[in-house]
Amino acid sequence: MRISKRLEDWRQLRAELTGSLGFVPTMGALHQGHAALIRRSVAENDHSVLSIYVNPTQFDDPGDLARYPCTLEQDLELARSLGVSAVLLPRYDELYADGFRYQVTENRFSRELCGAHRAGHFTGVLTVVLKLLNLVRPRRAYFGEKDYQQYLLVRDMCAALFIDVEIVPCETVREVDGLAMSSRNALLDARGRALAPLLHRLLTSDLDDAEVAARLAAAGFAVDYVESRAGRRFGAAAIEGGGRRVRLIDNVARAGGESSA
Ligand code: PAF
Repeated sequence: MRISKRLEDWRQLRAELTGSLGFVPTMGALHQGHAALIRRSVAENDHSVLSIYVNPTQFDDPGDLARYPCTLEQDLELARSLGVSAVLLPRYDELYADGFRYQVTENRFSRELCGAHRAGHFTGVLTVVLKLLNLVRPRRAYFGEKDYQQYLLVRDMCAALFIDVEIVPCETVREVDGLAMSSRNALLDARGRALAPLLHRLLTSDLDDAEVAARLAAAGFAVDYVESRAGRRFGAAAIEGGGRRVRLIDNVARAGGESSA
């Protein structure tokens, strides 16, 4: 497995990767959800590329960015064991050589759900994803359905900007108690971890959105939203404890809805 930290090296390495390329963009702190994306990419492509980059432009809260878990050595070990061909670890000064002057802005769906609660979040996500897709030039890129709004926005950006890549959604991987796997779960204290699966349990219940939000609040969550749309029910809520606020998101398929945003 080759590791590239500088774009000059990366461009050389990319030229050597022939055949179909699968790409898994991540912010590291890899878990079994990421492993599922990597496995699928390895199964469907001649080579798989993983990027690990904690993208500062998608964080609206500097504290959240500072706390974001980093487990680079373990991540590289996992990537190696799963058959990744190359890992891209870009640096801010190279990835944002323009100082973030150029940005990808979506003006509708990115302002709803998580976008309504995290100013500029999806502009940061779409901008970095476009940069990474242009650098990696994959045939397929893999995104987890836990971040379903992100998946839809990336898919639609690629269609709108004629980016020649297949955006492949992959089912959310869950703990046995239903909690969606997420790098942020590592930040939960024992009380928070015990409470966290309630988000998924209530999203999959027959209760209406308002009642789900009310029950989450009553259990101690700070609820951002519970909303059904695009054929799914979405929820975001934070758990506070041990001086930290850990924001969890999840979504589940709902019968009868349409599939576009
Ligand atoms: O889902 C993530 O981990 C990030 O939003 C992504 C797609 C790697 C962009 O920074």
